[in-house]
Amino acid sequence: MHHHDDAPPPQDPDAFWDGFYRAKDQVWSGNPNALLVREIENLNPGTALELGCGEGADAVWLARRGWQVTGMDISSVALERAASHARDAGVGDLVTWIQADLAAWALNTPESGPGYDLVCAQYLHSPAELPRDAILQRAVAAVAPRGRLLVVGHQDFPPWGRHPAPDPALPTAIELAAALGLDALGWEIETAEAIPRTVEGPEGQQAVVHDNVLLARRGV
Ligand SMILES: C[S@@+](CC[C@H](N)C(=O)[O-])C[C@H]1O[C@@H](n2cnc3c(N)ncnc32)[C@H](O)[C@@H]1O
Repeated sequence: MHHHDDAPPPQDPDAFWDGFYRAKDQVWSGNPNALLVREIENLNPGTALELGCGEGADAVWLARRGWQVTGMDISSVALERAASHARDAGVGDLVTWIQADLAAWALNTPESGPGYDLVCAQYLHSPAELPRDAILQRAVAAVAPRGRLLVVGHQDFPPWGRHPAPDPALPTAIELAAALGLDALGWEIETAEAIPRTVEGPEGQQAVVHDNVLLARRGV
């Protein structure tokens, strides 16, 4: 996702993201994230929590594979689309949508449950304020024993994007694993990679950007 205006970021994340989604009938492709598919398609389904699920393509893909999914996002506009996407796909009963600001998300809330077999976040980035590290720490704590954490994120942005590349604020998968304490005993790092992807800019120009992917499994 890229922003082309030079205006300072808006302060209210809720209003920013609802406005972002309202500006178009559909923002994202509706296809599941290729790295989510690559990392998860061979796993047995269980319970999954997705943070920043947007219009729901990834949650719906998980549900179609038998996962029981909770999708959280700050934007009720996005979640309405996600819910109708799930109904259209016949998996409405397998997905629970929760509108919440993850900045205020606490693990002692009912939606946190006893721990999920998968906690995932794909492109949990925001031009509005987003305490990503703190949120991902809570994501770690929400993983059940033998469960997995998947984080797919931007490693860099194209020249026309909102961040110059490389952006030191964006950790590599290995740096993120260390920041989250996953290099400690009890977690197995299954994937920590940067994957190139070609993107097209507003004038049809192309650039190669990288997504980082971290998949880690909690021990018993
Ligand atoms: C870059 S989009 C990615 C959406 C989706 N995961 C995808 O890959 O297409 C970031 C998502 O995070 C959500 N988000 C941003 N800040 C949030 C917050 N504080 N709490 C919950 N969701 C938030 C946005 O509404 C948006 O749907």
